[in-house]
Amino acid sequence: MMSTQQIVLIVGGTGRTGRRVLKQLLDRGIPVRAIVRSSGKLPSEVVGNPNLTVIEANLLSLDDFELQRHLRGCGAVISCLGHVISLKGVFGPPRDLVTRATTRLCRAIEAMRPTEPVQFILMSSVSVNRPGRLDTRRGSFERAFLAVLCCLVPPAKDNQRATDFLSRTLGADNPFVQWTVVRPDSLREGDITQYTQHEGLVSSLFKADSTNMANVAHFMCELVTNPTTWADWQGQFPVVVNAARSEQRNGCQTP
Ligand SMILES: NC(=O)c1ccc[n+]([C@@H]2O[C@H](COP(=O)([O-])OP(=O)(O)OC[C@H]3O[C@@H](n4cnc5c(N)ncnc54)[C@H](OP(=O)(O)O)[C@@H]3O)[C@@H](O)[C@H]2O)c1
Repeated sequence: MMSTQQIVLIVGGTGRTGRRVLKQLLDRGIPVRAIVRSSGKLPSEVVGNPNLTVIEANLLSLDDFELQRHLRGCGAVISCLGHVISLKGVFGPPRDLVTRATTRLCRAIEAMRPTEPVQFILMSSVSVNRPGRLDTRRGSFERAFLAVLCCLVPPAKDNQRATDFLSRTLGADNPFVQWTVVRPDSLREGDITQYTQHEGLVSSLFKADSTNMANVAHFMCELVTNPTTWADWQGQFPVVVNAARSEQRNGCQTP
């Protein structure tokens, strides 16, 4: 678990969810290092914050040495990377953005052999399956639909492969990296509200729940600052949804 002096490295911090994570981490007084393609896209409220270090670089172009340099002193890494929603962003290169970034960051952490495991938090989606068909609420029609989606839409495949890398390749007992895959449902604007976390899926793909991006950010901040939250969800694939529609169902409610 991260100590209070340690830094959180964030990638995707200029995105819709990432910028909220960045802001909430800084509001909690946590030192943050952000690797961004363009610092001009950072939210104005965080620019100049003494706890924020910005590295302007193309993440996938950094060599192993540079990546390890940026990871030094970090107790946690949060990835809010996503394919830009445009024809080029969805179908153009890099089609494996999330997988490649996740793999390279985790391999760089392993190469550094930290004395305490580094937390790696991946923002993913409810379209991503837990391995071993553990998402029991997914019927055969939905599974078939997702398989087709993975073939036709590169970001869906990318998100699944990044998750599979963490769960199958890195595994749950890695001495250097501990991970959590956070799975929100349909992302929404709005403030932090009551939300619930679930081990598995809550709703069908065709009757989606809502998840405020502010709630995803809040949960990610809790993961890096609250040892109990981390102990509960490390090595898991929590589904995070706004409480309004799901509070009747079983789940842990926050905040
Ligand atoms: N849309 C939904 O309803 C939904 C629901 C659940 C989960 N998700 C998943 O949640 C994640 C985040 O979603 P979001 O909407 O918050 O993201 P977003 O606003 O699209 O932000 C994407 C981030 O990734 C960065 N990025 C994109 N291409 C890059 C590249 N080639 N190299 C380096 N950085 C790159 C962007 O940087 P720039 O600012 O420089 O472009 C930005 O910081 C995605 O993986 C998405 O699949 C989405």
